[in-house]
Amino acid sequence: MRTSTSLIPLVISLSLDSALGQVKINTATKYQIIDGFGFSEAFGFGVGVQDAPTTQQNEALTYLFDKTKGAGFTILRNRVAADPGNTIEPNSPGSASGAPTYRWNGDDQSQVFWSKKARQMGVEYIYADAWSAPGFMKTNNNYENGGYLCGVTGETCSSGDWRQAYANYLVKYLQDYESEGITVDFIGFLNEPEFAASYDAMLSDGTKAASFIPILHSTIQKAGLSTGIICCDAEGWNDQVTYTAQLIEAGAEEYLSRISSHWYTSKGTSPINTTLRVWETEYADLDDGFSTTWHASGAFNEGLTWAGYIYQGLVDCNLSAFLYWIGAQSNSNAAGLVTLQGSGSSTTVTPSAALWAFAMFSRYIRPNAVRVGTSGAPSNTKAAAFVNTDGTTAVVMLNQGSTAQSVTLGGVTIASAVAYVMDSSVSSPTTLSTSISNGSVEATLPGYSLVTFVMTS
Ligand SMILES: *[C@@H]1O[C@H](CO)[C@@H](O)[C@H](O)[C@H]1NC(C)=O
Ligand SMILES: *[C@@H]1O[C@H](CO)[C@@H](O)[C@H](O)[C@H]1NC(C)=O
Ligand SMILES: *[C@@H]1O[C@H](CO)[C@@H](O)[C@H](O)[C@H]1NC(C)=O
Repeated sequence: MRTSTSLIPLVISLSLDSALGQVKINTATKYQIIDGFGFSEAFGFGVGVQDAPTTQQNEALTYLFDKTKGAGFTILRNRVAADPGNTIEPNSPGSASGAPTYRWNGDDQSQVFWSKKARQMGVEYIYADAWSAPGFMKTNNNYENGGYLCGVTGETCSSGDWRQAYANYLVKYLQDYESEGITVDFIGFLNEPEFAASYDAMLSDGTKAASFIPILHSTIQKAGLSTGIICCDAEGWNDQVTYTAQLIEAGAEEYLSRISSHWYTSKGTSPINTTLRVWETEYADLDDGFSTTWHASGAFNEGLTWAGYIYQGLVDCNLSAFLYWIGAQSNSNAAGLVTLQGSGSSTTVTPSAALWAFAMFSRYIRPNAVRVGTSGAPSNTKAAAFVNTDGTTAVVMLNQGSTAQSVTLGGVTIASAVAYVMDSSVSSPTTLSTSISNGSVEATLPGYSLVTFVMTS
């Protein structure tokens, strides 16, 4: 049995909680700049949307890109294919300095279609990521199953040093996209480099990557392109923490534009130590079925679960971008945020609850918004504030408790406010009633909800 002393902190925390219904925005405290939110249609996952009847194609694209009816995504992550069937350089030129024979089919497994639609519908950034170099440039002479790029620190090949050839190949890919009228903003040259997957995969750590990055940087510059370099799309955050320290130690940070990590083997819980903006570039529930459930048991595929991850990324990890794995997918079980079922004119297009979790951030926190400070929040509730370049302030409030919480939002004088709510009682974001009193906004956050306020001062 506990002694009465344990009651003292309990009483204090109860009285604090009731005062925490007040949330104050502190615009003087500035954190990271936001680049946005996104997804991929790599490995031909997007072919189904490209081939769908116009009505269904538009429905899927609207769910992903429209900032009123959909998620308003602003980043598309493409794959630079290394497999012989899809790469732009299927055959070795014989030696590292040999003249390459490139090819381009103008489709790139539907990613040209997706890139054009993405730009037309407001996407800010296109990120092309190579999971691996072509096999003949690697120590294992294979595009899959790991192996290193020949010539990086500690890795030599009898066929020579292929670092410049790999840089030339990546720049040629960027030029192929330019020829389609698509500017690729960022290029990556690794994907999960700690994992020797049985598909495009190439191993690296930060030190080895640092021995390639300046070569890629100067090759991009010489080609007259301004594409930024992203590294390293580690499988888990803890590995990317290590790789980033190695990149910095080796002097490569100055050649990079962003640091990137996935969240599969470890999720972020604190920022990565770098002056660069950091992106979470791939995470998904790959195990469970597609779900339209906002909240039931807290399962991995529920909407509120994803709202929690996005919040954790933005606030606990200082992220500038949070990307899911696949956007729209045909007849999928798990990975897509939007699922197309059936065929032809009877195809149905369904958004997942996770799509709406993304929408509640991505619609209202636009590229170049700055995260600012907040203090206070009701019990079981978290708040994060973002000042957009158009002067609006978006405040996202996540109520992870079962009971409704009333909140007063102030700290800046608020002239107008609109709030949107996502919870189990609605099937997509819906307006939540608010009132303004003496310059502060008042609203009630339902249990297990995500509420986004968009305000002018
Ligand atoms: C972060 O990096 C800076 C410079 O690279 C270094 O001086 C500092 O010690 C690092 N901090 C931590 C907590 O690792
Ligand atoms: C947050 O990210 C920015 C870059 O967007 C960086 O300059 C800043 O140092 C980071 N803050 C922390 C605490 O890591
Ligand atoms: C209105 O807000 C101001 C500034 O926050 C505060 O000083 C004042 O007491 C408030 N008035 C009422 C009636 O709540």
